[in-house]
Amino acid sequence: MSAAAARAMARADELAGCTERPGEITRRYGTPALIAARDLLEAWMLEAGMRTRVDRAGNLIGTLGAGDRPGILIGSHFDTVVDAGRYDGTLGILLGIGCGEELAGAEPAHDLTVAAFCDEEGARFPTDYFGSRAFLGRPLPDVAMTDAEGATLASGIELAGNGAAEPGSGLPANAVAYLEAHIEQGPVLEAAGHPLGIVTSITGGAKLMVALRGTAGHAGTVPMGLRRDAFSAAAEIALAAEALARDDGEAVATVGQVAVSPGAANVIPGRAAISIDLRHQDDNRRAGLLARVRQMIAEVADRRGVDAAVEVIHDERSVRCDPALGERMRAAARAIGLDPPSLPSGAGHDAVILSDHVPVAMLFVRCAGGISHNPAESVTTADVAAALAVLTAVVGGE
Ligand code: GLV
Ligand code: MN
Ligand code: MN
Repeated sequence: MSAAAARAMARADELAGCTERPGEITRRYGTPALIAARDLLEAWMLEAGMRTRVDRAGNLIGTLGAGDRPGILIGSHFDTVVDAGRYDGTLGILLGIGCGEELAGAEPAHDLTVAAFCDEEGARFPTDYFGSRAFLGRPLPDVAMTDAEGATLASGIELAGNGAAEPGSGLPANAVAYLEAHIEQGPVLEAAGHPLGIVTSITGGAKLMVALRGTAGHAGTVPMGLRRDAFSAAAEIALAAEALARDDGEAVATVGQVAVSPGAANVIPGRAAISIDLRHQDDNRRAGLLARVRQMIAEVADRRGVDAAVEVIHDERSVRCDPALGERMRAAARAIGLDPPSLPSGAGHDAVILSDHVPVAMLFVRCAGGISHNPAESVTTADVAAALAVLTAVVGGE
């Protein structure tokens, strides 16, 4: 098992070389870097004896087994945020492939499908779990949407997808479970000294794009009281969203994207656009927070005399992981001497989308400092070996 874990670690290092920008890991949807990573994953799937296919969006699916046993899917995503770490998403796919290798030549109780999703992060286009939704045959989002450089989603699909127009679900007819192993992206397991954790639920979240329109003007001549400064409105909205999340006590709010136009030091910004990411484990409280944020945006815009257009990119409920599947993973972990705690996930995962169709469970792997979405992401080979043992036992056993 540790040889397979070392192989997964080496593969994660190799995948890190598939990047749009040398010196960092940036692998967004519909780029040559994404295709290069998928080609590597496909080669490893084929080496593991899997049948492979690419779907209309660019997801890569590897299958082991003849379809005559109950099927377990193991999946995650191989796109990344900008300047990412090397394990978010990719580790889950590599563990799926490792599981296939471990079970080669055995008579596992389940067929195995490894689902490598092409876009979970939505880092290039304002999409929402595009890869896993397309895998399930859901309608494509507006393919005319553009990235920051004006390239369309349609052009990304043309590069990444297989050219098929017809939607159809890629979920195997015999699927009984979807398992996703993922770095924790938080500090709980490390603080408690546990290599692995069983996820109870995945937080709900909403993402808003807020476009503000004021009046551009001369920075030296327009008096403060006569300005319609779009960026100052955006900044006030960002701080107010942060305060609303703090007031809730359990919510989190993040403004991670800011664009200011025209973008000169001596020009009052006439336009500004920000993203607001809101998350809450409790769906009612998330809905309440979203309503308060929308109202706050309207009030700030009104008081500052700017126009505000709000687009809700997604508003996703929280998802409960299947307790029975979680217990199967816990039993497998106990068999190798571990006692994994249960914990919720504050991050979103492809399991959210799969959960509409099949019971889902998630296994968290301890990561150093709880750091993710950051080049400093780090896991140990021993922890990866433990995760591989758990997944292999669940797929292999009754
Ligand atoms: C996925 O990384 C998320 O935004 O939770
Ligand atoms: Mn991520
Ligand atoms: Mn992820």
